[in-house]
Amino acid sequence: MEPSLEIALAEVLASLEKSENFVRLVLSGRRRNMQTPSERIDVKPVLIKSEIKYQVSQSDGRAMTTKNYSPAEFIELNYLGSGFANILLEQKSGSISIRITKKGEALIQRTKDAFEVDLSHDRSKARLLEASDPFLIEVDISDSSGKVKASKNDKYLQVEEFLRLLVPSLNSAIEAGHIAKPTTANPLSVVDLGCGHAYLTFAAHQYLWSQGIPVNVIGIDVRESARQRNNEIAKKLGISKTINFLAEEISQTSLRAADVAIALHACDTATDDAISWAVTADAKLALIAPCCHHDIQAQMVDIPEPWQMMTRNGIMKERLGDLITDVLRMQILKLLGYRVEAIEFIGGEHTPRNLMIRAVKTGAIADAAEKSRYDEMVSLWKVKPALASLLNR
Ligand SMILES: C[S@@+](CC[C@H](N)C(=O)[O-])C[C@H]1O[C@@H](n2cnc3c(N)ncnc32)[C@H](O)[C@@H]1O
Repeated sequence: MEPSLEIALAEVLASLEKSENFVRLVLSGRRRNMQTPSERIDVKPVLIKSEIKYQVSQSDGRAMTTKNYSPAEFIELNYLGSGFANILLEQKSGSISIRITKKGEALIQRTKDAFEVDLSHDRSKARLLEASDPFLIEVDISDSSGKVKASKNDKYLQVEEFLRLLVPSLNSAIEAGHIAKPTTANPLSVVDLGCGHAYLTFAAHQYLWSQGIPVNVIGIDVRESARQRNNEIAKKLGISKTINFLAEEISQTSLRAADVAIALHACDTATDDAISWAVTADAKLALIAPCCHHDIQAQMVDIPEPWQMMTRNGIMKERLGDLITDVLRMQILKLLGYRVEAIEFIGGEHTPRNLMIRAVKTGAIADAAEKSRYDEMVSLWKVKPALASLLNR
């Protein structure tokens, strides 16, 4: 076994043995010529009668089974050595990702991102936003009795899951020195681009303040009616001093800077406007969940071979177009000094648009191979991404 793989596996094992730093383990994919016990295994710590157990969920491709083990019992099962090609460990202090290629090489990535542990063992997660919080009633997610409206449940969950990623991402960026620690005198600034009815905008404001993070939040949407409605709600909630809404095109906004840029389902190329704004304004953290993708799809006319095999089916062409769009967005960000990841921020049953691009400005210079990869990709597909045009690349 390669020494680097041995070291990484020992680290994963140590984290599982100790358990106090452990947040999540995901085993997936199959190594060449090896059989795995199931298609995918997800492991998380849960607290059952004051004892830490590992809740192991396995999928055989059709159904999911869940079983709880003590950490020692779980380690005894030796799933780490059972043929999985991908091992992802998330910890409170960072993550380790191991990928074993078809050639048997180990690709190992470590990040310092902090993950939050949720020890609840039933499926309902601890809520971040109380359904009866007045702001949820005002924005019309909850009814007047403080219950989430059935028609708004998916949006409520999307917003919560977005926040679940925002706070640890923000804390990591602060710890790494990318963002100054917010103080009352120098609060964090967050902009929500394409905020619409501002469910996420208000949620971010209320939740960050509740976590002791002084913050000024700006919501931008092209619709004047949204600005009026949202500012009225802010006034009613008595928070107008720290949250404000503008009726502006993202690409033309008068806002010049913010520490954090967020966007949830800004339509089509409004997502590119949002990313472009984040880059130009030098936002240090951007969390962007794209919406519909038409720009690249419309340009996918002269399909390179052998990809026609994939694009002759409309639905597959559409999905491939979505992937190409987001991959190119991410690569542009990478070339501009951002550390970038794609994350499934919520289950697909709550929205098919469940991919989030998380970008942290580290200033790292991407190597020449990354630039060539980007150039090859756009020339292969004969496309020019909207984001590239916006950033004159
Ligand atoms: C699908 S909605 C999402 C709203 C909100 N972020 C949410 O998740 O509920 C997209 C919003 O983006 C706004 N929008 C679209 N293009 C825009 C642009 N170029 N500049 C500003 N806002 C835009 C629309 O008016 C709409 O309110």
